[in-house]
Amino acid sequence: MRSHSGKKAITAVVDEFVANVAADARINKFFALTASDPKRMATFKGNLVDQICQAGGGPCTYAGKSMKEAHAGMGVSTADFSALVEDLVKALDKLKVGEKEKNELLSVLGPMNSDIVEKP
Ligand code: HEM
Repeated sequence: MRSHSGKKAITAVVDEFVANVAADARINKFFALTASDPKRMATFKGNLVDQICQAGGGPCTYAGKSMKEAHAGMGVSTADFSALVEDLVKALDKLKVGEKEKNELLSVLGPMNSDIVEKP
């Protein structure tokens, strides 16, 4: 996912990932407000695309909040975090993202749990 055309692939992954999360009874309550407002959902997805694109080496720049700021006060648990990563892996597998890219992405996102999880 390094080339510019990768942005289309990333957008497809984010769409699939967010659909998985919305259908995931373990964690979808966190996203009730996001899902209730199409503009908010579009901004959220755009931020995710930029973040994943940047994590993959660019050329996008993530301009959203820090992970600590974005998730402060949500009370995300380790189990919630694992459920979300599982939903992401499902999306990556469904869209046949290669093992190398998949592992690269997961190795960038995994360490973010210390900024996101409030209930270890
Ligand atoms: C590696 C894991 C995660 C990444 C990379 C991530 C990424 C993001 C990003 C980029 C935003 C947008 C920040 C902004 O608006 O400036 C965000 C917001 C949010 N995240 Fe996460 N997140 C992760 C884990 C989680 C988990 C585990 C939960 C809850 C189960 C969660 C719930 C939310 C919610 C509810 C928002 C607010 C969405 C909105 O603005 O409507 N996130 N996250």
